[in-house]
Amino acid sequence: MPTPLIAGNWKMNGSLSLVETFGRALSDADLPPQLDVALMVPFPYLEAAARSLAGSRAAVGAQTLSDQASGAYTGEVSGEMLRELGASLVLVGHSERRTLFGEDDTAVLARVRRALEAGLRPLLCLGETLEERDAERSEGVVLGQLDAVLAGLDPVQRQQLVVAYEPVWAIGTGRTATPEQAQAMHAAIRRRLASHDEALAEAMPLLYGGSMKADNAADLLAQPDIDGGLIGGASLKIDDFLAICQSAG
Ligand code: 13P
Repeated sequence: MPTPLIAGNWKMNGSLSLVETFGRALSDADLPPQLDVALMVPFPYLEAAARSLAGSRAAVGAQTLSDQASGAYTGEVSGEMLRELGASLVLVGHSERRTLFGEDDTAVLARVRRALEAGLRPLLCLGETLEERDAERSEGVVLGQLDAVLAGLDPVQRQQLVVAYEPVWAIGTGRTATPEQAQAMHAAIRRRLASHDEALAEAMPLLYGGSMKADNAADLLAQPDIDGGLIGGASLKIDDFLAICQSAG
């Protein structure tokens, strides 16, 4: 069984003072013993987050990285730089990156590879749009996104991945996937992983994301193939975030 993981994705939100608030609260919190916690903060807050979360069990992560190692790429940030600032994880392929910034499966794979080269754990996001769900194409879309990355990695690299299923229609909409809908997709992801490698399928944490809140987290996390959550809006309120962490224990 993978250790459960609750990861907060602040997106382009938060402030230095919120970083300090989370640092204090997570250091003082009595978290369930079998739980990993991570906060994915905007680039400028990484160093402060690493410092203020150092006394807590929470790891620090970034939300994207460049597909290049270094060079003339104005405005880009490399995996090495993130690592130097204290990040140990990085989101790759979030649907906002795929839809708003045009990152396709090739771009996602390139970033996963760069993350691994820099010693960062890639948290790979997969998810279908409402149109794709209505056309009953959800599973094909999600497994296609997964296959595109698995095909480009060797077995050792694959062991570093964490996967998050985030249906696009559930992100920021208040419309959560039902526990049954989420479980069905997680089971399909786990089966696809097992077709490559049984041990990989058993060990990889599969997170659900999309309007996960304190009041629906327990039902989602009770599903056999849901090992944690990737939390957007509710990860900006410390009480809500801690309540979700408690329901993962
Ligand atoms: P919400 O929890 O705000 O729906 O966002 C989910 C998400 O995109 C996390 O990466």
